[in-house]
Amino acid sequence: MSTPRGIHLMMTAIQSTPSLIHKPRSILHDPKIYENPMEFNPDRFLKDGQLDPSIPDPTTSGAFGYGRRVCPGRALSGETLFLMAASVLATFDVLPPKDEKTGLPVYLELETLNSVIASPLPFKCDIRIRSGECASILQ
Ligand code: HEM
Repeated sequence: MSTPRGIHLMMTAIQSTPSLIHKPRSILHDPKIYENPMEFNPDRFLKDGQLDPSIPDPTTSGAFGYGRRVCPGRALSGETLFLMAASVLATFDVLPPKDEKTGLPVYLELETLNSVIASPLPFKCDIRIRSGECASILQ
């Protein structure tokens, strides 16, 4: 079967490479698709209060890989993260830290470890229990 030279060379390169790591981070930060991609802005996925179907959903467009080697833990991790976030927010108010001099809240900038997995660097925040009822659940 004849293939265009470019494709043939690419396939040869892939076959002789011991492992191939795709870069979901680049795909999911494509400025042609996501406006200001480095900005933490969950609202980018909404339009008029509804999910905007014209903005690709990261969970199906790269974050968990593709095809036969797609991450088998994607449903478990999505449900677990949702339950964890819901439990924390139901029990605690998670607030930005206050400036020691002015007492005003300090705007937090997201800083991440620039590694294979981008995890947040340590940051200050003010975590307060939401009610006496929440406190009794924790005891
Ligand atoms: C937010 C959490 C997670 C993310 C972002 C994630 C992402 C990924 C990605 C990008 C791959 C590579 C897919 C590819 O080769 O194209 C992968 C593979 C894999 N993940 Fe996850 N994953 C997560 C959680 C989990 C969990 C909770 C489990 C297990 C309980 C898991 C088990 C696996 C396994 C076994 C593979 C290898 C699949 C294979 O090569 O056939 N992952 N994951």
